[in-house]
Amino acid sequence: MKNNTIVKEDVMHKGAEASLIHGFWFGKEVIFKQRYPKKYRIEPIDKQIRVARTLNEARALIKVKNYGLNVPQVFEIDVNTSTIIMKYIEGEKLKDLISVFDDGKKNKIFYDIGRFIAKLHQNGHIHGDITTSNIIITPNDEIFFIDFGLHEYSDSIEDKSVDLHLFKRVLISSHGSDFDKCFKAFISGYLLDYDLNGSDKGKYVVKNINSIESRGRYVKQEERK
Ligand SMILES: Nc1ncnc2c1ncn2[C@@H]1O[C@H](COP(=O)(O)OP(=O)(O)O)[C@@H](O)[C@H]1O
Ligand SMILES: [Mg+2]
Repeated sequence: MKNNTIVKEDVMHKGAEASLIHGFWFGKEVIFKQRYPKKYRIEPIDKQIRVARTLNEARALIKVKNYGLNVPQVFEIDVNTSTIIMKYIEGEKLKDLISVFDDGKKNKIFYDIGRFIAKLHQNGHIHGDITTSNIIITPNDEIFFIDFGLHEYSDSIEDKSVDLHLFKRVLISSHGSDFDKCFKAFISGYLLDYDLNGSDKGKYVVKNINSIESRGRYVKQEERK
C-alpha cells in the first residue's frame, strides 16, 4: 500500500446516522465515520445538522484523548462529507465478549470502565450512549470508548446519573445474568476514582440513579421519542 493513498475498503457497520467504513489513510489503518443525508430533512438544514454532529463528536474525541483516556485518535475531519477519519481500534466489542470472560475478568474490565467514566464525568463530559457496543476491548485488554455522537458537556449530577442509568439498563436488558456482578464492579470503579480526587460527588451521582428510577423519568423520555 502506498503511503499517500486514501482507501475505503468495506462498510463495517451502517448505523442510524452514519456509515462506518474500514480503510487506510496515508498508510494508517482507519475508520471513516460518515454521516449520510437524511431525505426527510430539508437539505441545507440536514447538512448543518450533519456538520454540527460531526464536529461535536470529533471535538469530544480530541478533548477526551487529552486526559489520557483511550479513545480513537482523530486524524482528519471532512466537513464537506461530514466524515471523521479516526484510528482503527483492533479488538472486539464488549457486547460480544461478556459471555466469553470469566468472573475475574468481568470484574476487572467493569471496574476499569467505571474508572474511565468517572474521569470523563469529573472533567465535565457526558458520553451520552454508554453501551457494551460502544466499548472495544483490544487483544491486550485495553478498554477503548467509541461513539461520542451523543456527547454533551455538563457538570450536573442529574446528567451524570442519566449517563450511568442508561448503562445500567443496557446491562439489565442485554446481559441480565451478568448484571449484578458487572454493575457492582462498575460502580466501585466509578466511586474509587471520584474518591481519589477527594470528592464525594460520585456518591451523589450513584445515589441519584435510584431517584431517576423511582421517578420513572426514563419511561417518559422514551414516550417522547
Ligand atoms: N475507531 C474504531 N475502530 C474500530 N471499530 C470501530 C471504530 N469506530 C466504530 N467502530 C465499529 O463500528 C461500530 C459502529 O460505530 P459507532 O461509532 O458506534 O456508530 P453508531 O453511531 O452507528 O453506533 C462500532 O460498534 C464498532 O464495531
Ligand atoms: Mg454505537
